Amino acid sequence: MKIAVIPGDGTGPEVTNEAIKVLAAVAAKDSFDYELTYFDFGGERYLKTGETLPEGAIEELQQFDSIYLGAIGHPDVQPGILEKGLLLNLRFQLDQYVNLRPITLYPGVETPLAGKGPEDIDFVVVRENTEDMYCGVGGFLKKGTADEVATQTAIYTRKGCERIIRYAFEYTQKRNNPKGKRLTLVAKTNVLTYGHDLIWRTFQDVATDYPDVEQDYNHVDACCMWMVKNPEFYDVIVTTNMFGDIITDLGAMIQGGMGVAAGGNINPDPGGTSMFECMGGSAPKYTGQNVINPIAAIAALAMLLDERGRTESATRITDAIKTVTGTKMESQAAGRMGYSTSEVGDLVCENL
Ligand code: IPM
Ligand code: MN
Repeated sequence: MKIAVIPGDGTGPEVTNEAIKVLAAVAAKDSFDYELTYFDFGGERYLKTGETLPEGAIEELQQFDSIYLGAIGHPDVQPGILEKGLLLNLRFQLDQYVNLRPITLYPGVETPLAGKGPEDIDFVVVRENTEDMYCGVGGFLKKGTADEVATQTAIYTRKGCERIIRYAFEYTQKRNNPKGKRLTLVAKTNVLTYGHDLIWRTFQDVATDYPDVEQDYNHVDACCMWMVKNPEFYDVIVTTNMFGDIITDLGAMIQGGMGVAAGGNINPDPGGTSMFECMGGSAPKYTGQNVINPIAAIAALAMLLDERGRTESATRITDAIKTVTGTKMESQAAGRMGYSTSEVGDLVCENL
Protein backbone atom coordinates (compact mmCIF):
# COMPACT_ATOMS: atom_id res chain seq x y z
CA MET A 1 0.00 0.00 0.00
CA LYS A 2 1.59 3.24 -1.20
CA ILE A 3 0.31 6.28 0.64
CA ALA A 4 1.06 9.91 -0.19
CA VAL A 5 1.01 11.99 2.98
CA ILE A 6 0.28 15.72 2.87
CA PRO A 7 0.50 16.92 6.50
CA GLY A 8 -0.31 20.50 5.41
CA ASP A 9 -0.61 23.58 7.57
CA GLY A 10 -1.19 24.60 11.18
CA THR A 11 -2.07 21.60 13.32
CA GLY A 12 -2.23 19.35 10.23
CA PRO A 13 1.25 17.87 10.85
CA GLU A 14 0.48 17.17 14.54
CA VAL A 15 -2.69 15.22 13.87
CA THR A 16 -1.09 13.48 10.88
CA ASN A 17 1.71 12.24 13.17
CA GLU A 18 -0.83 10.59 15.44
CA ALA A 19 -2.65 8.94 12.52
CA ILE A 20 0.66 7.61 11.16
CA LYS A 21 1.58 6.33 14.63
CA VAL A 22 -1.69 4.40 14.69
CA LEU A 23 -1.00 3.12 11.16
CA ALA A 24 2.36 1.73 12.29
CA ALA A 25 0.76 0.04 15.29
CA VAL A 26 -2.14 -1.50 13.37
CA ALA A 27 0.13 -2.66 10.53
CA ALA A 28 2.30 -4.48 13.08
CA LYS A 29 -0.76 -6.16 14.62
CA ASP A 30 -2.37 -7.15 11.33
CA SER A 31 0.95 -7.82 9.52
CA PHE A 32 0.79 -5.67 6.44
CA ASP A 33 3.30 -3.41 4.74
CA TYR A 34 2.94 0.14 3.60
CA GLU A 35 5.12 2.87 2.18
CA LEU A 36 4.76 6.56 2.98
CA THR A 37 5.87 9.46 0.79
CA TYR A 38 5.57 12.95 2.25
CA PHE A 39 4.63 16.06 0.25
CA ASP A 40 4.98 19.61 1.55
CA PHE A 41 1.95 21.07 -0.24
CA GLY A 42 0.06 23.77 1.64
CA GLY A 43 0.16 27.40 2.69
CA GLU A 44 3.86 27.59 3.66
CA ARG A 45 4.97 26.26 0.31
CA TYR A 46 2.56 28.55 -1.51
CA LEU A 47 3.94 31.59 0.32
CA LYS A 48 7.49 30.59 -0.64
CA THR A 49 6.95 29.47 -4.23
CA GLY A 50 3.61 30.89 -5.37
CA GLU A 51 2.43 27.40 -6.32
CA THR A 52 -0.33 25.38 -4.72
CA LEU A 53 0.33 22.18 -6.67
CA PRO A 54 3.56 22.11 -8.68
CA GLU A 55 3.76 20.92 -12.28
CA GLY A 56 3.42 17.14 -12.48
CA ALA A 57 2.04 16.76 -8.93
CA ILE A 58 -1.29 15.31 -10.06
CA GLU A 59 0.42 12.68 -12.22
CA GLU A 60 2.70 11.82 -9.33
CA LEU A 61 -0.11 11.55 -6.79
CA GLN A 62 -2.07 9.38 -9.19
CA GLN A 63 0.59 6.69 -8.76
CA PHE A 64 -0.35 6.22 -5.11
CA ASP A 65 -3.06 3.96 -3.73
CA SER A 66 -4.28 6.65 -1.36
CA ILE A 67 -3.59 10.17 -0.18
CA TYR A 68 -3.68 11.13 3.47
CA LEU A 69 -4.27 14.84 4.06
CA GLY A 70 -3.71 16.60 7.40
CA ALA A 71 -5.18 20.07 6.93
CA ILE A 72 -4.67 23.04 4.69
CA GLY A 73 -5.35 26.70 5.42
CA HIS A 74 -2.95 29.48 6.34
CA PRO A 75 -3.78 32.85 7.97
CA ASP A 76 -1.50 34.71 5.51
CA VAL A 77 -3.08 33.21 2.39
CA GLN A 78 -6.21 34.80 0.99
CA PRO A 79 -9.30 32.56 1.33
CA GLY A 80 -10.03 30.46 -1.74
CA ILE A 81 -6.48 30.04 -3.04
CA LEU A 82 -5.54 26.88 -1.18
CA GLU A 83 -9.09 25.53 -1.24
CA LYS A 84 -9.35 25.85 -5.01
CA GLY A 85 -5.71 25.26 -5.87
CA LEU A 86 -5.18 22.24 -3.67
CA LEU A 87 -8.23 20.57 -2.19
CA LEU A 88 -10.79 21.11 -4.94
CA ASN A 89 -8.14 20.71 -7.63
CA LEU A 90 -7.22 17.27 -6.27
CA ARG A 91 -10.85 16.23 -5.91
CA PHE A 92 -11.61 17.23 -9.50
CA GLN A 93 -8.43 16.11 -11.23
CA LEU A 94 -8.35 12.74 -9.47
CA ASP A 95 -12.10 12.44 -10.17
CA GLN A 96 -12.86 11.71 -6.53
CA TYR A 97 -16.55 11.90 -7.16
CA VAL A 98 -17.68 10.59 -3.76
CA ASN A 99 -17.33 12.63 -0.59
CA LEU A 100 -18.05 10.13 2.16
CA ARG A 101 -18.90 11.63 5.54
CA PRO A 102 -19.91 9.27 8.35
CA ILE A 103 -21.89 11.03 11.08
CA THR A 104 -21.14 8.85 14.07
CA LEU A 105 -21.51 9.89 17.68
CA TYR A 106 -18.82 7.94 19.53
CA PRO A 107 -19.48 6.81 23.10
CA GLY A 108 -18.67 9.43 25.73
CA VAL A 109 -18.82 12.26 23.22
CA GLU A 110 -21.09 15.16 23.96
CA THR A 111 -23.70 16.14 21.37
CA PRO A 112 -25.68 19.38 21.51
CA LEU A 113 -28.84 17.35 20.80
CA ALA A 114 -30.60 16.77 24.12
CA GLY A 115 -31.58 13.19 24.80
CA LYS A 116 -29.71 11.68 21.83
CA GLY A 117 -26.96 9.11 22.14
CA PRO A 118 -24.65 7.00 19.97
CA GLU A 119 -27.56 4.72 19.00
CA ASP A 120 -29.43 7.73 17.55
CA ILE A 121 -26.64 9.48 15.68
CA ASP A 122 -25.17 6.99 13.27
CA PHE A 123 -25.62 7.65 9.57
CA VAL A 124 -23.56 8.37 6.50
CA VAL A 125 -23.71 11.23 4.01
CA VAL A 126 -22.65 10.42 0.46
CA ARG A 127 -21.97 13.83 -1.04
CA GLU A 128 -21.38 14.30 -4.77
CA ASN A 129 -17.90 15.81 -5.09
CA THR A 130 -17.27 16.96 -8.68
CA GLU A 131 -20.34 18.86 -9.94
CA ASP A 132 -22.92 21.43 -8.87
CA MET A 133 -21.84 24.96 -7.93
CA TYR A 134 -18.31 23.69 -7.28
CA CYS A 135 -17.41 23.48 -10.99
CA GLY A 136 -16.19 27.05 -11.13
CA VAL A 137 -18.41 27.91 -14.09
CA GLY A 138 -19.50 31.54 -14.18
CA GLY A 139 -18.12 35.00 -14.43
CA PHE A 140 -18.58 38.71 -14.07
CA LEU A 141 -20.02 41.30 -16.37
CA LYS A 142 -19.33 44.99 -15.80
CA LYS A 143 -17.35 44.10 -12.70
CA GLY A 144 -16.96 46.91 -10.20
CA THR A 145 -19.72 49.05 -11.71
CA ALA A 146 -23.23 49.71 -10.45
CA ASP A 147 -24.51 47.40 -13.22
CA GLU A 148 -22.37 44.47 -12.21
CA VAL A 149 -23.66 40.95 -12.95
CA ALA A 150 -22.19 37.75 -11.52
CA THR A 151 -23.13 34.21 -12.49
CA GLN A 152 -22.21 30.97 -10.73
CA THR A 153 -23.62 28.01 -12.58
CA ALA A 154 -24.57 24.70 -11.04
CA ILE A 155 -23.80 21.81 -13.39
CA TYR A 156 -25.45 18.40 -13.13
CA THR A 157 -24.80 15.61 -15.61
CA ARG A 158 -26.61 12.33 -16.08
CA LYS A 159 -23.30 10.49 -15.68
CA GLY A 160 -22.41 12.45 -12.56
CA CYS A 161 -25.82 11.86 -10.99
CA GLU A 162 -25.87 8.20 -11.89
CA ARG A 163 -22.46 7.29 -10.54
CA ILE A 164 -22.96 8.94 -7.14
CA ILE A 165 -26.47 7.52 -6.72
CA ARG A 166 -25.30 4.04 -7.68
CA TYR A 167 -22.39 4.29 -5.24
CA ALA A 168 -24.85 5.34 -2.51
CA PHE A 169 -27.20 2.42 -3.19
CA GLU A 170 -24.26 -0.02 -3.16
CA TYR A 171 -22.99 1.55 0.05
CA THR A 172 -26.43 1.26 1.70
CA GLN A 173 -26.62 -2.41 0.73
CA LYS A 174 -23.15 -3.05 2.12
CA ARG A 175 -23.82 -1.09 5.30
CA ASN A 176 -26.75 -3.40 5.88
CA ASN A 177 -28.29 -1.44 8.74
CA PRO A 178 -30.12 -3.85 11.07
CA LYS A 179 -32.83 -1.18 11.51
CA GLY A 180 -33.48 -1.44 7.74
CA LYS A 181 -31.65 -0.28 4.64
CA ARG A 182 -32.80 3.18 3.62
CA LEU A 183 -31.31 5.66 1.15
CA THR A 184 -32.58 9.23 1.41
CA LEU A 185 -32.02 11.55 -1.54
CA VAL A 186 -31.60 15.12 -0.27
CA ALA A 187 -32.19 17.84 -2.85
CA LYS A 188 -34.55 20.72 -3.63
CA THR A 189 -36.82 19.47 -6.43
CA ASN A 190 -39.53 22.02 -5.63
CA VAL A 191 -37.30 24.93 -6.64
CA LEU A 192 -34.38 23.58 -8.69
CA THR A 193 -36.77 22.20 -11.27
CA TYR A 194 -34.15 21.37 -13.94
CA GLY A 195 -31.00 20.17 -12.24
CA HIS A 196 -32.69 18.43 -9.37
CA ASP A 197 -35.33 17.00 -11.68
CA LEU A 198 -32.48 15.21 -13.46
CA ILE A 199 -31.19 13.96 -10.12
CA TRP A 200 -34.65 12.81 -9.04
CA ARG A 201 -35.30 10.91 -12.28
CA THR A 202 -31.86 9.32 -12.12
CA PHE A 203 -32.50 8.28 -8.51
CA GLN A 204 -35.73 6.55 -9.49
CA ASP A 205 -34.09 4.78 -12.44
CA VAL A 206 -31.12 3.50 -10.42
CA ALA A 207 -33.37 2.48 -7.50
CA THR A 208 -34.96 -0.28 -9.60
CA ASP A 209 -31.65 -2.18 -9.37
CA TYR A 210 -31.80 -2.14 -5.54
CA PRO A 211 -35.24 -3.39 -4.52
CA ASP A 212 -34.00 -4.30 -1.02
CA VAL A 213 -33.15 -0.66 -0.22
CA GLU A 214 -35.99 1.62 0.84
CA GLN A 215 -35.89 4.79 -1.26
CA ASP A 216 -36.72 8.03 0.41
CA TYR A 217 -36.60 11.75 -0.41
CA ASN A 218 -36.15 14.93 1.70
CA HIS A 219 -35.89 18.53 0.64
CA VAL A 220 -32.64 19.90 2.03
CA ASP A 221 -34.29 22.38 4.39
CA ALA A 222 -36.46 19.64 5.87
CA CYS A 223 -33.38 17.42 6.17
CA CYS A 224 -31.76 20.08 8.37
CA MET A 225 -34.77 19.93 10.67
CA TRP A 226 -34.79 16.13 10.82
CA MET A 227 -31.06 15.89 11.43
CA VAL A 228 -31.62 17.89 14.62
CA LYS A 229 -35.01 16.50 15.63
CA ASN A 230 -34.82 12.83 14.56
CA PRO A 231 -31.29 11.93 13.45
CA GLU A 232 -32.07 8.26 14.18
CA PHE A 233 -34.28 8.25 11.10
CA TYR A 234 -31.32 8.33 8.73
CA ASP A 235 -29.28 5.44 7.41
CA VAL A 236 -27.57 6.78 4.27
CA ILE A 237 -28.13 10.17 2.62
CA VAL A 238 -27.09 10.93 -0.95
CA THR A 239 -26.92 14.58 -1.92
CA THR A 240 -25.42 17.23 -4.16
CA ASN A 241 -22.06 18.88 -3.64
CA MET A 242 -23.24 22.22 -2.20
CA PHE A 243 -26.03 20.86 -0.02
CA GLY A 244 -23.69 18.10 1.07
CA ASP A 245 -21.11 20.64 2.16
CA ILE A 246 -23.67 22.37 4.35
CA ILE A 247 -25.40 19.38 5.91
CA THR A 248 -22.11 17.66 6.72
CA ASP A 249 -21.06 20.60 8.89
CA LEU A 250 -24.39 20.27 10.67
CA GLY A 251 -23.60 16.57 10.92
CA ALA A 252 -20.15 17.30 12.35
CA MET A 253 -21.73 19.35 15.13
CA ILE A 254 -24.25 16.71 16.15
CA GLN A 255 -21.50 14.07 16.19
CA GLY A 256 -19.52 16.10 18.68
CA GLY A 257 -17.61 18.68 16.65
CA MET A 258 -14.80 19.09 14.17
CA GLY A 259 -12.39 17.21 16.42
CA VAL A 260 -14.09 13.93 15.55
CA ALA A 261 -15.40 14.44 11.99
CA ALA A 262 -13.54 12.64 9.21
CA GLY A 263 -14.17 12.25 5.51
CA GLY A 264 -13.03 10.55 2.35
CA ASN A 265 -12.80 11.87 -1.18
CA ILE A 266 -13.16 8.66 -3.09
CA ASN A 267 -12.59 7.63 -6.67
CA PRO A 268 -14.07 4.12 -6.57
CA ASP A 269 -12.99 3.23 -10.12
CA PRO A 270 -10.28 0.57 -10.51
CA GLY A 271 -6.92 2.27 -10.11
CA GLY A 272 -8.56 5.40 -8.64
CA THR A 273 -6.67 7.34 -5.97
CA SER A 274 -8.75 8.40 -2.99
CA MET A 275 -7.91 11.03 -0.39
CA PHE A 276 -8.81 11.01 3.29
CA GLU A 277 -8.91 13.98 5.62
CA CYS A 278 -10.09 15.22 8.98
CA MET A 279 -12.61 18.00 8.62
CA GLY A 280 -11.36 20.35 11.32
CA GLY A 281 -9.08 22.59 9.31
CA SER A 282 -5.61 23.81 10.23
CA ALA A 283 -6.61 25.55 13.52
CA PRO A 284 -3.61 27.95 13.36
CA LYS A 285 -4.01 29.26 16.89
CA TYR A 286 -3.36 25.80 18.37
CA THR A 287 -0.31 25.03 16.21
CA GLY A 288 2.59 23.38 18.01
CA GLN A 289 0.84 23.23 21.40
CA ASN A 290 0.07 19.50 21.41
CA VAL A 291 -3.55 20.24 22.38
CA ILE A 292 -5.51 19.61 19.16
CA ASN A 293 -7.78 16.58 18.99
CA PRO A 294 -6.34 13.86 16.71
CA ILE A 295 -9.42 11.61 16.80
CA ALA A 296 -10.78 12.85 13.45
CA ALA A 297 -7.39 12.33 11.82
CA ILE A 298 -7.18 8.81 13.21
CA ALA A 299 -10.74 8.12 12.04
CA ALA A 300 -9.75 9.33 8.55
CA LEU A 301 -6.94 6.78 8.57
CA ALA A 302 -9.46 4.06 9.45
CA MET A 303 -11.55 5.14 6.46
CA LEU A 304 -8.48 4.92 4.23
CA LEU A 305 -7.76 1.37 5.36
CA ASP A 306 -11.40 0.38 4.93
CA GLU A 307 -11.39 1.72 1.38
CA ARG A 308 -8.26 -0.32 0.63
CA GLY A 309 -10.09 -3.46 1.77
CA ARG A 310 -8.43 -3.63 5.22
CA THR A 311 -11.77 -3.77 7.00
CA GLU A 312 -10.40 -5.65 9.99
CA SER A 313 -7.74 -3.03 10.68
CA ALA A 314 -10.25 -0.23 10.13
CA THR A 315 -12.65 -1.77 12.64
CA ARG A 316 -9.81 -2.30 15.09
CA ILE A 317 -9.06 1.43 14.93
CA THR A 318 -12.67 2.60 15.24
CA ASP A 319 -13.20 0.23 18.16
CA ALA A 320 -10.10 1.67 19.85
CA ILE A 321 -11.36 5.20 19.21
CA LYS A 322 -14.65 4.28 20.90
CA THR A 323 -12.80 2.91 23.92
CA VAL A 324 -10.72 6.07 24.19
CA THR A 325 -13.62 8.52 23.79
CA GLY A 326 -15.88 6.40 25.97
CA THR A 327 -13.55 5.67 28.85
CA LYS A 328 -10.65 8.12 28.77
CA MET A 329 -11.12 11.52 27.17
CA GLU A 330 -12.83 14.27 29.15
CA SER A 331 -13.89 16.31 26.15
CA GLN A 332 -13.33 16.48 22.40
CA ALA A 333 -12.44 20.17 22.49
CA ALA A 334 -8.85 21.26 21.90
CA GLY A 335 -7.04 21.77 25.20
CA ARG A 336 -9.78 20.14 27.26
CA MET A 337 -9.31 16.50 26.35
CA GLY A 338 -7.62 15.60 29.64
CA TYR A 339 -4.68 14.46 27.49
CA SER A 340 -2.34 15.98 24.95
CA THR A 341 -2.57 15.30 21.22
CA SER A 342 0.18 12.69 21.36
CA GLU A 343 -1.24 11.05 24.48
CA VAL A 344 -4.58 10.54 22.72
CA GLY A 345 -2.68 8.93 19.82
CA ASP A 346 -0.87 6.66 22.31
CA LEU A 347 -4.15 5.70 23.96
CA VAL A 348 -5.63 4.66 20.61
CA CYS A 349 -2.50 2.55 19.90
CA GLU A 350 -2.72 0.89 23.32
CA ASN A 351 -6.35 -0.03 22.73
CA LEU A 352 -6.03 -1.50 19.25
C1 IPM B 1 -15.30 20.49 2.96
C2 IPM B 1 -14.76 21.90 2.94
C3 IPM B 1 -14.41 22.31 1.52
C4 IPM B 1 -15.66 22.24 0.67
C5 IPM B 1 -13.74 23.70 1.42
C6 IPM B 1 -12.51 23.79 2.29
C7 IPM B 1 -13.43 24.07 -0.01
O1 IPM B 1 -15.65 22.78 3.52
O2 IPM B 1 -14.56 19.56 2.59
O3 IPM B 1 -16.44 20.28 3.36
O4 IPM B 1 -16.40 23.23 0.56
O5 IPM B 1 -15.92 21.18 0.11
MN1 MN C 1 -17.44 21.86 4.25
